[in-house]
Amino acid sequence: MPETDGTLPMGRPSDEDVVTTVDALAWQAHYCRRARSPVAAQILDAVRVDVEAGGSLAGELPATVRFGDLVGLRVMATLHRLALERRVPRVALCLPTLGGTAPTVGTVAGQRFAGDVVESLATHEGLLAAMLEWTPQTNETGRAALLRFALSRLGSGLPVRLREIGASAGLNLRADVLPGRTDLEFGPLPAVVDRIGCDLHPVDPTTSQGRILLSSYIWVDDVARFNRLGDALAVARRVPATVVQQDAGEFVEALNLRASTLTVLWHSAMWVYLPSETKARVLAATRRLAAEATAEQPFAHVSWEWSDVEGRAQSAMPFELVVRSWAGHPDDGRRRTLACGMSHGEPWKPVDVVP
Ligand SMILES: C[S@@+](CC[C@H](N)C(=O)[O-])C[C@H]1O[C@@H](n2cnc3c(N)ncnc32)[C@H](O)[C@@H]1O
Repeated sequence: MPETDGTLPMGRPSDEDVVTTVDALAWQAHYCRRARSPVAAQILDAVRVDVEAGGSLAGELPATVRFGDLVGLRVMATLHRLALERRVPRVALCLPTLGGTAPTVGTVAGQRFAGDVVESLATHEGLLAAMLEWTPQTNETGRAALLRFALSRLGSGLPVRLREIGASAGLNLRADVLPGRTDLEFGPLPAVVDRIGCDLHPVDPTTSQGRILLSSYIWVDDVARFNRLGDALAVARRVPATVVQQDAGEFVEALNLRASTLTVLWHSAMWVYLPSETKARVLAATRRLAAEATAEQPFAHVSWEWSDVEGRAQSAMPFELVVRSWAGHPDDGRRRTLACGMSHGEPWKPVDVVP
């Protein structure tokens, strides 16, 4: 598949579509290139070329994948983890997150890098197989700025109980103490009185294994994100949050509102991984909470996910910050899109925001 101008090689398939691994890798490489992560794209291209040619990775990767499983992120994270653990020194020397520089595509050095990428993955096939099984743990705190922006505009005046599904290590449950775009926030943030999330595979950000796992999902040339994660891990050590091991559907079904507080249910970059049945459970439980909301115990649903609006989903800023809130008022539940941007939260811009 030719690499040209950063437009997608195909429309974005839907989450449930089964696509060839080769197409999934090509799509991810284009997305990385468009998000200004050329080394990540270089790695994915090296893997794709090897698989297409029936090389050593062809037998390690499935022939087809569910598109929403984002196989490219899993492969890239495996390589990054090997480099972070100093198990593939030649590759590590080429990764910007480790202070390296990748050789130019098409040069002899570039071909050697592509060969090293493939060999590193093929000789660590056990880790590759394990990481292909795991849902990416990209706990991206660039998204915290979006949650802060939404919190600043909920306007109930009540303290917030923050709840998150697919929270990974729970870093964004500390959104109020992570950096935000304060120029766009409307008034002081509400006090967050407790922070509880769920994940199928929670990560403990206070252990070295947890920190390496989270770091491995940063795209290999995104030094700013790598540093941002380091800062957020330091915040996580001083601001506690709870992430229970639980399915998103069960978690929201067990959620109740509480008097004199605003309960905020938040999720980001996780909807794509949910099977249709789980999505339906979350939506039904959200409707139940909306029906129980009153001025005394309001409820808000805030998300940063791939847009489901035709046109925006294929645009250069395909993620949307969508807010709905309920407090026993006639216009409750109105969908408000506050911002759009790239998946990791940078760049993003406000949309139709009324001060
Ligand atoms: C790409 S990460 C995003 C993490 C976090 N929301 C963020 O924006 O930084 C997706 C997370 O969703 C979790 N996940 C996937 N399916 C889930 C489910 N059915 N229930 C709970 N968590 C789930 C994964 O384990 C993973 O931690």
